[in-house]
This record gives sequence, C-alpha cells and structure tokens, in this order.
Amino acid sequence: MDSFLIKGGVPLHGEVSISGSKNAVLPIMAATLLTADTCVIRHVPDLSDVRFMGKILESLGAEVKFEGDTVTVRAAKVKGFGDYELIRKMRGSICILGPLLSRLNQASVSLPGGCVIGTRPIDLHLKGLRALGAVLDISGGYINAKTKRLKGTTVFLGGRVGPTVLGTANIMMAATLADGVTVIESAACEPEVTDLANFLVSMGAKIAGIGSPTLTITGVKTLHGTDHEVIPDRIEACTFLCAAAATHGEVLVHGARAEHFAAVLDKLREAGVKVERKAGALLVKASKSLKPTDVTTLPYSGFPTDVQAQFMALMCGAKGISVITERIFESRFMHVAEMARLGAEISIEGPSAIVKGGRPLSGAPVMASDLRASAALVIAGLAATGSTQVHRIYHLDRGYERMETKLKKLGARIDRVDGE
Ligand code: UD1
Repeated sequence: MDSFLIKGGVPLHGEVSISGSKNAVLPIMAATLLTADTCVIRHVPDLSDVRFMGKILESLGAEVKFEGDTVTVRAAKVKGFGDYELIRKMRGSICILGPLLSRLNQASVSLPGGCVIGTRPIDLHLKGLRALGAVLDISGGYINAKTKRLKGTTVFLGGRVGPTVLGTANIMMAATLADGVTVIESAACEPEVTDLANFLVSMGAKIAGIGSPTLTITGVKTLHGTDHEVIPDRIEACTFLCAAAATHGEVLVHGARAEHFAAVLDKLREAGVKVERKAGALLVKASKSLKPTDVTTLPYSGFPTDVQAQFMALMCGAKGISVITERIFESRFMHVAEMARLGAEISIEGPSAIVKGGRPLSGAPVMASDLRASAALVIAGLAATGSTQVHRIYHLDRGYERMETKLKKLGARIDRVDGE
C-alpha cells in the first residue's frame, strides 16, 4: 500500500486548479443508466472511485470510455443485477438502484458496505423507493426491488440529522421515469444534488425547485443522451485553502466556486485567514497567528462534514481552544488519534472535539483511516516540522486527483512511496 512521505514546515506558494467533483460525478454516472443513448460527461476527475463506478456500469452492460477528463457512457442495454463484490465496496454505488429500477422495473443491488465514519444506514433510500411503489426485499446481502411501474407521490426524506444527499439523488433519479408527479420534501440542497438535477434536466427530465428542499419531478416516458460538464470539487478546494492557511502560505486556487462553500470561507476569515475573490479564482493568505474558531458541521449550506477533519488540522495551529462539533456522522473523529502522534492536543467530548491549538506539530508516522481524514493528516504533516509518513493513502486516491503533484507544484516536499 502506497504512502506519502512529507517533509513539512514549508509554506505553500503558487497556483492550483481544482478538479471536477467526485460526489457530483458518481451519481451522474449512475444517471446514465436511465437512457439507452450516449451521455458525455466532462471535467471528470481521474480517481479510483470514478474508475470503480465505470466498472460497475460495465458490469451492468454499459459501454464506458475514459478519455482525458471525459467519460462517455452508452447503456444501450442494461441488466438489473449488480455484481455483489463490486457494489459492496463503494458507498456511492447505492445510487444505481433508483435508475435501474426506474428503467427496468426490477433491480438487485448489494447493500453498500459499512464505513469507519459511522453506520451509514440506507433506510431513507428504501423509504423513498417504497413510497414510489417498489416492493423491496433484503436477502443474502442484496436489496431486491421490483415494481409494475413506479408511481409519483409525495415523500419526506429528512432523517435523524437532516436530509440525505445520495438518498435524494436516488429517489430523484427513480422519479424521472415514474408515472405522474413526485414531490421530495426535505431534499438535500448540496451543489452535487443540484448538478445531478441539471444533468437529468439536460436528458429531458422535468424537475422544478432545483437547489431547494422541495423537488418536484414530473415523470417522462424516456430520457435522451446529453453532454454535461461536472461542477468543480468544493471539498478539494476547501482542502487546498486549509493546507495553504495551515502552512502560512499564499495560494491562488483556480476554478473553485466560492458560492458553494460560503460557510467554510466564513470560518476561515473568522480564523484570521485572508481569502480574496479574484477573477475565477480565490487567493488565500494566512499570517503567522491564526485565531481559534468553533465549527459545527451541518447539511448544506452549513459547514460540510467533509471539511471537518481538514479544518481541525488547521485549528491545531491556532493558539487557544477551538470546539469542532460533528453533527452528520457520529464517528467521524478517527483522525484525532493520528493527529495526536504529531503532537496535537485534542480531546473528544460527545460529538465535539476540543482542540488546544498552538503547540508546534512535529512529524511522525500516521495511518489514514478514511478519505477526508487522510487529507487532514496530509495538511497536519505539511504544517509540522520534520518528516511525516502518511500510510494507507489509497483512501486519499479515492477522492483527490494527483494530490501530491498539485502540492509539489506549490512547493511542498511530498513524495509517494510505493508500498509492497
Ligand atoms: C454524501 C457524500 C459524503 C458526505 C455526505 C454528507 C457522496 C458519494 N458522499 O454521503 O461525502 O459526507 O453526503 O454530506 O456523495 N442517513 C440516514 N438514512 C439514510 C441515509 C442517510 O439516517 O438512508 C443519515 C446518515 O447516517 C448521516 C446523514 O443521514 O448521518 C447524512 O448522510 P447522507 O447525506 O445520506 O450521506 P451520503 O449521501 O451517504
């Protein structure tokens, strides 16, 4: 397994370009199953999760072609039975269920695996599909779904902690070919859900209320092919902003859409980081003294859970106490123990991490536990003096395109070490 060897303590300087959004492209690729026509998807990041979704689509009978940052999918004929092992491995694969069921009136998809950041239930996906008239049976690790024809209805998709991103995506896709009108109440409003909705509209779907908590989908008979450019990855952008700030550098981040992460910009400014909007880019500059800042993760447009770990790494360098509260995933503090190896003082009290920042970090070997935790460890390693080896970066490769190449261009001393 590969690792990163980082020699930290160097401020990042220069320019970086943001890739297409992983969390937008995965459901968009699933949506290509809704038509027999060719769909062209542009600004696609080269990530292991994206290639994996390509394999899943191929296993269902679709033709998938990767060329540079463009993916072309033609699902002329598809089968409704997903490969158990392939689907089980990636959470995002659950969103093939809605499109397959809508197109074929039956589908069997393995339950997505658990995840270290929490239990990750799918009850809201199932509730939505049942409301549309699907008969579901879970056996042998599969969700077996069938229907005569999905039928529009009103369904409330809010859960214990608010809306569900992939649940909204799944039900919205299923509703595009259903008979009649579906209203999704308490829909997720994340930019990735909006991008998917725009993709579906470009295929001929009828969706009103895009970007709002109430989506109204009027079913159509068929959808057609399309050509779509994926939005930039707001989580990648925020990761680079935190990395630049944590090393007290100055970086111009190209291609990010600031309106997609206003809550993060607000907190960076509260922490004393200067972020200026330039034409099509953001310039981030951080002085030596950062201010401690409290953060609570929330559904969009609140502070994203996917930036919690990276912001925590930043707060390790802010003198004083920052309280970081996680409201979306209950166990999303796996990075805390690893950051402690670098000398960070963090204690966990219920859903909050109390960061006593300001103590200099020093390099150590650490282990990545999940995608965003890995990014946080890289940021901490860049800010620390001495060498940090971040093991198990396959997590990071799932969601960051050529991270070490981008960081090297900014002056970071970081190398990928091939694992045995
Ligand atoms: C997506 C993102 C992930 C991000 C998360 C929250 C993708 C591929 N992944 O995950 O990066 O961290 O949104 O922004 O886009 N829940 C239920 N029942 C369900 C579904 C979810 O109770 O049926 C709960 C979850 O346990 C969690 C909360 O709802 O507490 C939000 O989860 P959800 O928005 O569904 O996350 P994902 O869509 O899986």
